[in-house]
Amino acid sequence: MSALTDSDLFQKLGLKHPLIVAPMAGGPSSVDLVAAASAAGALGAMGGAYSNAAAIETFAAQVRQRTDKPFSINLFIPHSIPEVAADRVERAIEATAGYRQELELPSPELSPPYEEDFGPQFEAVLRLKPACFSFVFGLLSADHVREAKKAGIPLIGTATTLEEARALEDSGVDAVTLQGFETGGHRGIFGAKAADPEIGIRDLLAQCAGTIRVPLIAAGGLMTAEDIRAALKAGARAVQMGTAFLACTEAGTSAPYRKKLLETSERRTRTTRAFSGRFARGIENRFMDEMDRKPEGILPFPAQNKFTRDMRGASTAQGSPDFLSLWSGTGKGKLWQGKAADLIERLFA
Ligand SMILES: Cc1cc2nc3c(=O)[nH]c(=O)nc-3n(C[C@H](O)[C@H](O)[C@H](O)COP(=O)(O)O)c2cc1C
Repeated sequence: MSALTDSDLFQKLGLKHPLIVAPMAGGPSSVDLVAAASAAGALGAMGGAYSNAAAIETFAAQVRQRTDKPFSINLFIPHSIPEVAADRVERAIEATAGYRQELELPSPELSPPYEEDFGPQFEAVLRLKPACFSFVFGLLSADHVREAKKAGIPLIGTATTLEEARALEDSGVDAVTLQGFETGGHRGIFGAKAADPEIGIRDLLAQCAGTIRVPLIAAGGLMTAEDIRAALKAGARAVQMGTAFLACTEAGTSAPYRKKLLETSERRTRTTRAFSGRFARGIENRFMDEMDRKPEGILPFPAQNKFTRDMRGASTAQGSPDFLSLWSGTGKGKLWQGKAADLIERLFA
């Protein structure tokens, strides 16, 4: 199964700019942001991981009402984890009892499934035929790769190391997003429990450029036109930017999250397993600080993600950033608060 050549994929996408406005599941990648990014000549990307098949279809239909330009859909590769043992859930409940009291939430019950069913999600993608399908957290199964190819949907996998990029290339993807340690949100490391390789985007690009034959998309801490130029010069065919777009008018970023992002241009971020059980980078806050000191109270991914959802929801509703996952990359500077199209124009002026 040969991958499309470099120019084929990006020519096929017909992008005016070599930019993917990052898929950001959980709210920020709103219909308006995806449509605005695509209409402005970048590739808008739906973060569909937390949506069921029907919601993915509705979202895509709404994007298509706003623009006829290409956009992508992004999902999480599923995790096959057994039901979490009752004593671990007990410890997690204990570790968070005070927070739930503060947020006036009842004691939680946790049972599988811990994540959306990937099969129906993927079926929806096949029906929708987006301009491409991107994924994170591992390899797409050979059957799914075959089905996507049959439907004519190009594939983009996510790698945090050269070895992961090689495995993706061997599996038949058409491009690889290289996710540097600077990246906001979940780290795409294949193994949910693995240590973080902590490779920055410059080093990762240097290792992969010339070795990986499919086009490389650079992600992590990229904020400016200069950052884009440097990544393209270092061998990336395109860039993927998330944090830079989080405060755009169209982004579905919640009010307390937005406020925190804009509080200072020197956002202090680090990676934590506290919110989901998987490493993810966000602005430091109380939940992260306190939970990182009691790791025995953190469940494995994706159970922890489901377990903390009520607290994150209540925190948002109460306008507090204390219990929210404030995903953000290491990139500094004041975030753009205007339209996404104007930011894209500035980035490629
Ligand atoms: C709020 C948020 C949510 C994200 N959700 C996803 C996601 O659902 N799928 C994915 O592949 N990457 C996700 N990412 C990572 C982005 O796709 C992208 O790689 C990252 O934002 C690039 O780093 P930057 O934020 O420093 O620009 C997310 C990032 C953020 C900030």
